[in-house]
Parts: sequence; structure tokens; C-alpha cells
Amino acid sequence: MAAASLKSRDDAYRPELDDAERASRDEIMALQTKRLAWSLKHAYDNVSHYKRAFDKAGVHPSDFRQLSDLGKFPFTVKTDLRDNYPFNMFAVPREKLVRVHASSGTTGKPIVVGYTAADIGVWSDVMARSLRAAGGRTGMIIHNAYGYGLFTGGLGVHYGAEQLGCTVVPISGGMTERQVQLINDFRPDIITVTPSYMLAILDEFKRQGLDPRKSSLKFGIFGAEPWTNAMRSEIEQTFDMNATDIYGLSEVMGPGVAQECVETKDGLHIWEDHFYPEVIDPETGKVLPDGEKGELVFTSLTKEGFPVIRYRTRDLTRLLPGTARPGMRRMEKVTGRSDDMIILRGVNVFPTQIEEALLATDWCGGHFIIELSREGRMDEMTVLAEARAGHWDAGGLAEQAGALAHHIKSTIGISTRIKIVAPDTLERSLGKAKRVYDKRPKG
Ligand code: DLL
Repeated sequence: MAAASLKSRDDAYRPELDDAERASRDEIMALQTKRLAWSLKHAYDNVSHYKRAFDKAGVHPSDFRQLSDLGKFPFTVKTDLRDNYPFNMFAVPREKLVRVHASSGTTGKPIVVGYTAADIGVWSDVMARSLRAAGGRTGMIIHNAYGYGLFTGGLGVHYGAEQLGCTVVPISGGMTERQVQLINDFRPDIITVTPSYMLAILDEFKRQGLDPRKSSLKFGIFGAEPWTNAMRSEIEQTFDMNATDIYGLSEVMGPGVAQECVETKDGLHIWEDHFYPEVIDPETGKVLPDGEKGELVFTSLTKEGFPVIRYRTRDLTRLLPGTARPGMRRMEKVTGRSDDMIILRGVNVFPTQIEEALLATDWCGGHFIIELSREGRMDEMTVLAEARAGHWDAGGLAEQAGALAHHIKSTIGISTRIKIVAPDTLERSLGKAKRVYDKRPKG
């Protein structure tokens, strides 16, 4: 992309945008074709797993000539990464890596990912771009409550915020009372945190008798777990702020793979100059046309340390044309992962659908868990939903529970038991919330 051709466009009113954010679709696709050819060769030449997998599928990087050729290459799945634990997926000598992160992984070994200095540079750039798309500007204060450590959230946002020229408060997750104190004292413009932990911060504001609408926060950047537009409205109204969605995963980079633009709030623009998305049918692996819902797959275009080729994320979404950044496609808000999907007596249901139904009531503020159990041969779903403070004493909760169960039955099509519990009784997450507790006998 020649910078000169981009400058000629009539978008001088947004001088802060990167060249790629102003590029046309054709320019982005030309760049992707060039970068994909490099990335496929880089992975094949330097990672024995990719060499074996490509050879087995009978493809060679030189078979890639245009974007549609990518479909010939094999997918990469989580177990491939696990089988190469800890360092065998790296495409550069370990000494060239300046950092590793690891996904928490609830079972077995974690997934280890690594970054060269150049990779950290790209990550900082896309993260700075994400913060700016969410409303962030040079000079602002960012309260970063994503966890620091092996999780990519804390450090990923941190480097991007410094790159944008912000003042970062690296508070990490936890110590909720202190979070509220520092928000009051430092007066940050932006908060970065999981949406479920934002609700815990909200409770703490209320507990301290503080009006969240009077806080200094203007922009909230929420991700790392699925959340709904109903939750967005809840947070925007209670804090009088703009809430946008940020997406990413360790295997592909960390936060900052895709970000919603504050001016449109219509799904997340994928930073397609660095990450190439596909959506596939999770059953057959067939690539689906844009607009159809399926499993999101990513290929890295510029990563040196840990390239990923057609990595199956398990996240379900669909690709849509660009709006606020016309050259780059959007992904619809992720409603869930194929592995979070609950199949209850044949009906597929995601925790986000339950969240939406709960937030449509006036008595529930969004804290909930789902328990699955088996009685005889029948699977049962119980939703433990926490009442808002003012509503717990108000009475009529049995009727409310009945009305909600009816609403869920008529909209989602499943019978649930609703148990309304007292305010402040469900465990709060400091990062990603665990929504589903499956108590059904295994096997
Ligand atoms: O969660 C990276 C991140 C940190 C993203 C902070 C956003 C903000 P992992 O721990 O590897 O990385 O988990 C990645 O989390 O495959 C999705 O299932 C889920 N996820 C991440 N962002 C979103 C989102 C970080 N905005 C996994 N909406 C992904 C829904 C999300 N799910």
C-alpha cells in the first residue's frame, strides 16, 4: 500500500487512523495475499509440526497464489499446540523470544505462546488501534483491570495503552474495594476489564454509597468472555459511559485481534492487515460465505515467533462487511464457544441467551450461574439468578421466577428452574466468569 495513495482520500478529518484503517478492501486483500504467502512459508520452513501437516495434506506453501487457496491448507487445533508443549511450535530460536504467555487451560497442560520483539511491536500497534477505536486518546488515563501475568489481557492492553500515549494504572484483577477507591482518586477516562468483573465493581460502587454515573469513566472496553448487548445497555446506563467489545485469544496474539468502533457499536472490526479470518462449518470444515454463522478460524499474517495457520478458535460468529473501517470486515459479537454450548434435551442453548433473558427483567442485574443436573433420565437446567438489592425485599419473587421461566420457554424453547438468590451471594469472578456447572453424571 503506497502511503501517497491513501493520503489522497478525503478522510483527513480522521488523521489519527493508521494507513490500514483507511485502506480500501482491495488494498487490504492485496496486502493479505502477500503476507499470507510469507506466513505459510515461514511456518512450513521453521515449525516441524506445520511441515508434517502440510506434507501429509499434500500441499506446499508455493501452492498458495490467491486468498481462496488458503482452503487447501490443513487446520490447526488446540491439541496440536498441546502436543508440542512447551516450545515446539515456535518458528524462531527460543533466544529470539522476548516473552511467553500461557492460557490458563482448565485441564492438563497450558498452551504456551511466544513473541519476538517485532511481534510485541505489532501487538502494541493493534492494541493501541483498538483503544483508539473504542474512544481512547493520547493523554487519557486507563484503569487496566485485566489480569497481569501469564494471561494476555493485562500486559496486552498495557503495551497498547503506552503506545497510544496514555497513563496506565496497572491494577490487574481483584481487590475490588481498592479498584473503586483508585477510580475515584485517579479519575481515569477508560476502564479495561471483563464484563463480569465490571458488574462486581458496580456492586462495590453501590456498597460504598457512590453514584457510578458520577465517576470519571467515559469508555469501557470489555472482552475475554461472551457478553450481550443487553449487558452493554446495563453498563452504559449505570455508568453513563460508552461500552465496546474487544476480542482476542492467546494463540492468535491476545486482546486486540478485533475491536468494536465506538461510533457504530455494530460488531468488531478484525484487524485484517495482521489476522486473516475464515468462518467454517464446525462439522464439515467447509469454508462458509461471509454472513453465515460458524466457527471462526484465524491465520496470522505477520507473526514471527508463533505463527498460526488456520487455527480453529471454537468461537461462533459470522463475518460482515466493514462499516467504520470499510476495508476490514467485522465479526458479529461472539455468542459463545462451540464447547460452551449446552444441549438440553436436544435444544442448543448458550449462556448468553440466558443472560439476555435475565437482563430483560428489572429485578436481575446480570449475576447468574447455570447448573445442569440429571434426574432419572431427564437433564435439568437450574438458573441461579441474583436479585438486585432493592428487589430482594420487595416480594413477588416467586411470580417473577415463574414469568422468567415462561419467557425462556417461549423464546429459547427450554424448561428451566429459576432460583432467585439474595444479592451478593453468587461468587464473583475476578476475570472470566464461570457460568456453567455441569453436575450430570459423566459417560
Ligand atoms: O481472553 C484475550 C483477551 C483479553 C481478549 C482481554 C479480550 C480482552 P484467552 O485467555 O486465550 O485470551 O481466551 C480466548 O476468550 O477464544 C473466546 O472464547 C473468549 N473471548 C475473548 N474475547 C471475547 C469477546 C483472551 N469479546 C477466548 N467475546 C476466545 C466473547 C471472547 N468471547
